[in-house]
Amino acid sequence: MQATYDFGLIGLGVMGRNFILNVADNGFKAFGYDLNTDQVAALKAEGNPDQVDATSDIVTFTQSLSLPRKIMLLVPAGKIVDQVIESLLPHLDKDDIIIDGGNSFFTDTDRREEYLKEKGIHFFGSGVSGGAKGARKGPSIMPGGNKEAYQHVKPIFEAVSTKYKGEPCVAYLGPKSAGNYVKMVHNGIEYSMMQLTSEIYDLLKKSVGLSNSELHEVYSTWNSGRLQSFLVEITAEIFTQKDTLTGGDLVDLILDKAKQKGTGKWTSQNAMDLGIPVPTIDMAVSMREISALKEERVLADQLYSRPTPLPISKAEMIAQAEQALYFSFIISYSQGLHQLADASREYGYELDMAVIAKIWRAGCIIRAGLLADIADAFTAKPDLANLLLSPAFVGKVQDTLPAVRSLVAYAAQSGIPVPGLASALSYFDAYTSSNLPLNLIQAQRDHFGSHTYERIDREGIFHTEWGDQ
Ligand code: 6PG
Repeated sequence: MQATYDFGLIGLGVMGRNFILNVADNGFKAFGYDLNTDQVAALKAEGNPDQVDATSDIVTFTQSLSLPRKIMLLVPAGKIVDQVIESLLPHLDKDDIIIDGGNSFFTDTDRREEYLKEKGIHFFGSGVSGGAKGARKGPSIMPGGNKEAYQHVKPIFEAVSTKYKGEPCVAYLGPKSAGNYVKMVHNGIEYSMMQLTSEIYDLLKKSVGLSNSELHEVYSTWNSGRLQSFLVEITAEIFTQKDTLTGGDLVDLILDKAKQKGTGKWTSQNAMDLGIPVPTIDMAVSMREISALKEERVLADQLYSRPTPLPISKAEMIAQAEQALYFSFIISYSQGLHQLADASREYGYELDMAVIAKIWRAGCIIRAGLLADIADAFTAKPDLANLLLSPAFVGKVQDTLPAVRSLVAYAAQSGIPVPGLASALSYFDAYTSSNLPLNLIQAQRDHFGSHTYERIDREGIFHTEWGDQ
């Protein structure tokens, strides 16, 4: 057996098979491994035999790889990652590299990295975004781990990743679990943008009764403007898809219960731990939970009456909706990037926000024209705490506000739920308020629990015996 293969991949499901074929297309010899012999056969059938091979035998697999071995796992997150690592370990040499390309929880990555470091093996948590098509044609890749070891992986990842104006959408992001963390927040932003896109669809449908073909037109037009993004693009496409069973529009036949694998929830949970507000991402997670309560929703719908949507012209509704979507996409990125900046300090990731925005410009699910502006904003001011503080974004946001306010008010009065959009607006209004009523909360805390408060007119910590006067 000759160790001539540049790259190994474990897990030959759709993502794994597509990724390894992409590696081979880019001139690297790649070896796949899967216990499932059908997956092995499928890869062998599809790949160029000079470039790709596959096996269900771990010894053949590991002995075919050149040193240091670069082995990527594309297996479901969780215990299976640990099991695969254990099965590999007896066959590895010092300085070999294992890359976890799945959506693993970042503390699991830290644990695995520490464990493998003791054994002289480098471990990378590396988010891969772009779905099955992205894996085949060019994903956005978010690696984190040992910087020196990354040099061995870099040529392969730079070749297989998609390119934005010639620049690869992959970069070394930072030590430890930086890559998985960035991918987790990418998914939090993804949840938020998906929720917002759906709320706008609901508004356009329930207010002025746009048909699916009109919705297709609207989203397509938006995708040629400042809202240009993967999610708007696929949304436009979804409205034209016919159902093969009934011939009807497929979107209208899909049950309104959204599933989730956990990355959005983890983003929200960790933002809470860090003390960074990401309410629109939180709301997107909550909405998937509310959507799951279909039976209760149907029951509740019968108990309460709902106002008839207020009259509004199609043109006005579409114009306001465009502005609201643009505004709320900006807020989604603001919240996610704010969380990343704080996590970077807390966990020592040394993240470069401009680099992150750059590798998200193409290939990933949240790619959008807006990300080029965001990359510029962080290049101009790398320590920007929040995108809303960027001078380049003030005008963009300010211009949309009258339309956003009017649309949120319209939705409230018409009984159309827009929790993501409303949360984006409320977050904006709170974040940009010098004064908030939280002085009253401090007074209440001190009143019932002697929790003390600070004052605006002098330094120190104060407590009052309330009512005692
Ligand atoms: C991506 C996606 C990918 C996956 C989501 C789906 O970047 O390619 O984010 O990782 O499709 O994790 O997540 P849910 O099942 O939780 O919606």
